[in-house]
Amino acid sequence: MMIEQTFVMVKPDGVQRGLVGEIVSRFERRGFKICGMKMMRIPRELAERHYEEHRGKEFFGTLLSYITSGPVVCMILEGENAVSVVRTMMGKTNPQDALPGTIRADLAQVTGRNIVHGSDSPESARRESNLFFNDYELQEYRKPDEEWLFER
Ligand code: RTP
Ligand code: MG
Repeated sequence: MMIEQTFVMVKPDGVQRGLVGEIVSRFERRGFKICGMKMMRIPRELAERHYEEHRGKEFFGTLLSYITSGPVVCMILEGENAVSVVRTMMGKTNPQDALPGTIRADLAQVTGRNIVHGSDSPESARRESNLFFNDYELQEYRKPDEEWLFER
């Protein structure tokens, strides 16, 4: 068993298009535990730190404008291999390359409006979790379905 946590965000376009429930529901139905969740408007400085790997790229400015353009919904999800499973459920960065059944393929059309973010590695997950959540915003609890979700 490789239970881990990952950081997920419904981007401003997902919120504006009324897709928060649809996106959260997909993760919940898969069996992921929601350990933290909040809506916020990302301040510019936080956006720059979150996406600092892209600083200097030609799309950095438009990426910052996009991600700060309206409220987002941030989550910490926990489950078996959560980082890579969430990335697979999201689909490729460009929705046109994403496989049918993934969030981006089913709900989005272009890279610059791809509605969801998920950490790309366990290290990124820890870094981003610490950027967006305080300890008191993260919950530890047992869900009754865990007994049936996992083998033991
Ligand atoms: P994310 O970080 O948002 O989960 O997306 P990702 O890992 O799939 O893609 P990444 O390479 O980290 O890019 C971050 C976000 O920047 C925008 N982008 N625009 N115009 C472009 O070439 C371009 N490339 C990336 C997208 O919104 C992408 O999700
Ligand atoms: Mg990324």
